[in-house]
Amino acid sequence: MMLPKEDSDIKYNEALKKKIARLKKKHNAVIIAHNYQRDEIQEIADVSGDSLALSQAAVRTDAKIIVFCGVDFMAESASILNPNKKVLLPVKEAGCPMADMITPEKLRAMRRLYPDAAVVCYVNSSAEVKAESDIACTSSNAVAVVKSLPEQKIIFVPDKNLGRYVQTKVPEKQIIVWEGFCPTHIRVQGEDITKTKNLHLGAEILAHPECNPEVLDLADHICSTGGMFNYVKKSNSKEFIIATECGLLYRLQKENPDKKFYIPTPRLLCATMKLTTLGWVAHSLENLVYEIKVADEIRERAKRTLDRMLAVTGEKKEVILASY
Ligand code: 13P
Ligand code: SF4
Repeated sequence: MMLPKEDSDIKYNEALKKKIARLKKKHNAVIIAHNYQRDEIQEIADVSGDSLALSQAAVRTDAKIIVFCGVDFMAESASILNPNKKVLLPVKEAGCPMADMITPEKLRAMRRLYPDAAVVCYVNSSAEVKAESDIACTSSNAVAVVKSLPEQKIIFVPDKNLGRYVQTKVPEKQIIVWEGFCPTHIRVQGEDITKTKNLHLGAEILAHPECNPEVLDLADHICSTGGMFNYVKKSNSKEFIIATECGLLYRLQKENPDKKFYIPTPRLLCATMKLTTLGWVAHSLENLVYEIKVADEIRERAKRTLDRMLAVTGEKKEVILASY
């Protein structure tokens, strides 16, 4: 008998989940997923969170294999921090267009223009760019990272919106921003926010700092994806407009069943984040692909950049910030 499509899909997904659980056990693997992943991937993940939480989880895990459900720069960071572990990215093509907007050559040229500036790179960057930078940051610690530096001048790459947001929080420093951007977050406009707000007058507006300044100006609270979870949990409001990638709504709704969440535009979807499916995770664990490795010379310098960031957030206290 032919099953209706939905039922066959559910059965297929359940079979894949069982297969993934079996392979995970066999290989002593951990599945780490970013908050923008598909619902079913977040469901099977051992850890899900924002970029900072995932870097920290990658440092802490004692699993032998890390299956990183996210985009390439995230798996690369996990590999840089865990040279003795196998880090797998289930879909080879899952990249971040923003990370591709800066190259090490362009960054070196920028440094020559501002020799007295410190270089802060958003984790959404390649290992080579990290190797050329002084310290990394995520959207949840960017302000703290910039404040921690002795330099007055900061070159901030590659996200102009995050860089400009940090400038508003650290006016005593001069932040020179690279003109990169997230093609997903720039799709939400001020008009989308006001229209949604008019439909839900009591809703609080939460925006990711990768959004345009006109959107950030309308926000009640600006934070990373992880920050949004914390904020929603503590807030007395019952409704929220969420200006970030739509994947966040799955866990927000699950963890806060009495609250309501609205996405201001369906355009808030990151195509590369959605490439990872249960089928690809099963394929990854079955064939131990696609391994992400960084050449030693780049890895060591990029690791210093990430370790300095983790020291600011208190993860690796043995790293002395003043040593560079
Ligand atoms: P966070 O989860 O750190 O807020 O990052 C958002 C993002 O765009 C990752 O690609
Ligand atoms: Fe890159 Fe934007 Fe997608 Fe994040 S949401 S992975 S910054 S393109």
